[in-house]
Amino acid sequence: MRRLEGKTTLITGGTTGIGRATAELFIEHGARVAITGQDAQRVADAAAALGPQAIGIRADVANLADMDRLAAELRAHFGQLDIVFANAGVAKPRSLAEIDEAHIDEQLGVNVKGVLYTVQKVLPLLRKPASIVLTASTAAELGMAGMSVYSATKAAVRSLARTLSAELAPHGVRVNVVSPGPIETPIFGKMGLPDAAVQAWAGEIAAKVPIGRFGQAHEVAKAVLFLASDDSSYMLGENILVDGGMATV
Ligand SMILES: NC(=O)c1ccc[n+]([C@@H]2O[C@H](COP(=O)([O-])OP(=O)(O)OC[C@H]3O[C@@H](n4cnc5c(N)ncnc54)[C@H](OP(=O)(O)O)[C@@H]3O)[C@@H](O)[C@H]2O)c1
Repeated sequence: MRRLEGKTTLITGGTTGIGRATAELFIEHGARVAITGQDAQRVADAAAALGPQAIGIRADVANLADMDRLAAELRAHFGQLDIVFANAGVAKPRSLAEIDEAHIDEQLGVNVKGVLYTVQKVLPLLRKPASIVLTASTAAELGMAGMSVYSATKAAVRSLARTLSAELAPHGVRVNVVSPGPIETPIFGKMGLPDAAVQAWAGEIAAKVPIGRFGQAHEVAKAVLFLASDDSSYMLGENILVDGGMATV
């Protein structure tokens, strides 16, 4: 059964990884999808690969002017939106000693401000009942060395789902969270670390996952589809861990 037939959706950070896999699944289920990313060419390439049900809009989630323009373009193209997946994020591991202001600002800007700006700017476009899904992380549930800023941003996202639900539920908007564990996506190559260090680190993480492997982006997308669709109509402010048991077992 196609679970998003005729729905209009926004996925921030839809060029690669979890956002891209979710865009593919949403389209498979009958949705029209707008994806975003920071780079015009990457956005255009990803939208073209997704096909005629997708459009791409370049917009930096941490930039208010970009997000105003995004909302205007979404209004012009879709009129209204049924579903929003606020997923764009960056992860930059650093030890406490290495943390500086730029490191904090980048991750807070994209992972926290970006989620707030996304929800705030698209709110007037939402057709009720609407569903918003935010991407947090298992990192918010655990103590992972070198991940203090990233984990704090994702704990903030988890918290936002509760607060925004309280604020928006009376207006017919549900907000829930998906928390992926280690998922094989390009994010690991964007961490600013040498390949060997990333490989070693990934090996250490995989050893801590009870299911014994990294997850795949499409395994997260299925949980997002559930939270986005009416199948989760009685869920509000909830968090679904998709982490091979890492934070639970
Ligand atoms: N992979 C994991 O192990 C894992 C685990 C837990 C949580 N997560 C979370 O899952 C989400 C998706 O990550 P992923 O693993 O799929 O990584 P990814 O493949 O790197 O995808 C990140 C997406 O966010 C976009 N993006 C980054 N900064 C942006 C900005 N300022 N404005 C707009 N778009 C921006 C990227 O687009 P461009 O770079 O093309 O601009 C890309 O489309 C993130 O929130 C991440 O923190 C991932």
